[in-house]
Amino acid sequence: MENQHSSDTLAYLSGFGNHLSSEAIAGALPESQNSPLICPFGLYAEQISGTSFTAPRKLNQRSWLYRIKPSVTHEPFKPRVPCHGKLVSEFNNSNSRATPTQLRWRPVEFPQLQTDFIDGLFTVCGAGSSYLRHGYAIHMYAANKSMENSAFCNADGDFLVVPQEGKLWITTECGRLQVSPGEVVVLPQGFRFVVSLPDGPSRGYVAEIFGTHFQLPDLGPIGSNGLAGPRDFLVPTAWFEERTCSDFTIVQKFGGELFTAKQNFSPFNVVAWHGNYVPYKYDLARFCPYNTVLIDHGDPSINTVLTAPTDKPGVALLDFVIFPPRWLVAEHTFRPPYYHRNCMSEFMGLIYGGYEAKADGFLPGGASLHSCMTPHGPDTKTFEATVALGNEVGPRKITNTMAFMFESSLIPRVCQWALESRYLDDDYYQCWIGLRSHFTHEYGDEMNLQNEQNASGTNTEL
Ligand SMILES: [Fe+2]
Repeated sequence: MENQHSSDTLAYLSGFGNHLSSEAIAGALPESQNSPLICPFGLYAEQISGTSFTAPRKLNQRSWLYRIKPSVTHEPFKPRVPCHGKLVSEFNNSNSRATPTQLRWRPVEFPQLQTDFIDGLFTVCGAGSSYLRHGYAIHMYAANKSMENSAFCNADGDFLVVPQEGKLWITTECGRLQVSPGEVVVLPQGFRFVVSLPDGPSRGYVAEIFGTHFQLPDLGPIGSNGLAGPRDFLVPTAWFEERTCSDFTIVQKFGGELFTAKQNFSPFNVVAWHGNYVPYKYDLARFCPYNTVLIDHGDPSINTVLTAPTDKPGVALLDFVIFPPRWLVAEHTFRPPYYHRNCMSEFMGLIYGGYEAKADGFLPGGASLHSCMTPHGPDTKTFEATVALGNEVGPRKITNTMAFMFESSLIPRVCQWALESRYLDDDYYQCWIGLRSHFTHEYGDEMNLQNEQNASGTNTEL
């Protein structure tokens, strides 16, 4: 597939959640109806539904694909041999563990063996169940080889892919996307796609959500602009190949297991499509961050790019939040993130640069997990250095940084292999253990006086 992506100037359509149309051949879209008896150029009409047929109109997502042969034209699915073994879509004590401990992983090395995106993908943690349509999985990937003569299809949920190193060229049924580190791509449930690696070794992060789709967050008092702008979300344009293959394999992830089916043609045979259920990408450099302009550190929700909601207002199944370059200007304020405990669980990654709350140890390609009510915050070095700067630090710009967070109201269980990984930083807790008391009140003297009064019965208060 690589040479089919030789241009850096792929055309995209623009706009989040739009109802879009695209034709690789003019006239390939039927006019005024979706499923005529005979479609233009003898194409088959096929709908892909991303929500139930009866979902409210504002949430309803579906697209119509006009293709040379329908996607049903394949041999029966069979369990893939070998099975994958490190993908989880239903988290329980047979495949994952509960732990409140702060966890941090060093960046994984690239594989030595030939490994494509599918085999390089492994689940780190998650909650809930793809079968029950509620939950999420957080994966990472490290690969060094393009997928060949096969396409991946995730029946379990939507993938939000965050490349950290190495460009991805992704061919989907709606067209082709080029996704570089610093960009993210959403591959919705059910679409078939191929991941090619033009730069060779690649790695990154994937959030998978079950039973819902990403939305742009409400902006509340911010107003009608800011954060991620709808027009900066880019959707591919129709592209097709009429390619007969003796042995093309569809690899379908279904309930966390992989199944394969053979067919004798490329699935990227969609000549035209229309609808609002589509893959899309977004360049994080386009994000318009908002921040405090006088005092205190704002909650990280101010930097939400995309949110996958639950039925509870304001409670996310999964928020995708970034910490991009920005000015820090707050007066007499501890500017890094505050120490805190959170009923939400926080998985963090770093795409490039450093992160403002960790002087060292949190590296590009690495990850951390602070689960529900597990305390966390700036490491000792960051705290001491920040306080040492004093109140007259003045405006300062954080540059060369792009950290992100997947934040969820569901408490993740952590996969056994992630807990036993050689990349797990066993000394993570050490980054806070040196935080010393700065308490200056002469508390000891007062307590001694009070104890003496209690002993002599002179203190009549309760
Ligand atoms: Fe946090």
